[in-house]
Amino acid sequence: MKATFFAIAAFAATAFAAPASGVPGALQNVDDVVSSSVTDSAGLIEALESVLSGIQTDTGAINSTVASFQKGDISKEEAQTAASSEVADIQSKLSEIVSDLTGAVGLAVSEGDVDKVLNLVVALLSEVLSTVKSLVTILGLTPQLTLLLKSVFGIVSNLLVVLIGLLAALLPGLLAALSPLLAGLGNGVLAPILTPVVALVAALAGPGLA
Ligand SMILES: *[C@@H]1O[C@H](CO)[C@@H](O)[C@H](O)[C@H]1NC(C)=O
Repeated sequence: MKATFFAIAAFAATAFAAPASGVPGALQNVDDVVSSSVTDSAGLIEALESVLSGIQTDTGAINSTVASFQKGDISKEEAQTAASSEVADIQSKLSEIVSDLTGAVGLAVSEGDVDKVLNLVVALLSEVLSTVKSLVTILGLTPQLTLLLKSVFGIVSNLLVVLIGLLAALLPGLLAALSPLLAGLGNGVLAPILTPVVALVAALAGPGLA
């Protein structure tokens, strides 16, 4: 499992110039990282629940911004500016959990907990993907939004790498859930910003790594 993790981490480190501030390097040498607030599976589940609920606040704000634009209460530019700062909030929450989990090594996790973690990760990704899809469909992509969203999905792929490193048992369930989710989005408006996640899932699904 360790070897698999390093192979995946090396892939992620070379494939994406890690956009998360504070994260670069951490993925390459887990042994150098000593502290994490996550020391067991209950802690991992708690951390994921908390990031999911934090991110739902941000996606809720994005949805209100989009709705305000649709009602004509704010201009498209105002909506794009507000949405950018809301996406930046998602970016920083995701960066935080990646940093935090990067220090967590060798968690013993029961099968029931693997399922809970899997469900939380899939809920998190679905929430972000569906919100971003409606945001991009209705407001379009500005250069700033493109940059932010590319960063968000780069961090998402780092998060997946770190989680699989912690819990190799997640891999089959993640692939089963993510492949159709991404296939449904990969050809549309989100295609250019989803590349890091699509590339990671393809690498994980391919022979040799998984
Ligand atoms: C925001 O909108 C998306 C797309 O309609 C939806 O999937 C998501 O659950 C909404 N989130 C919140 C918190 O309202």
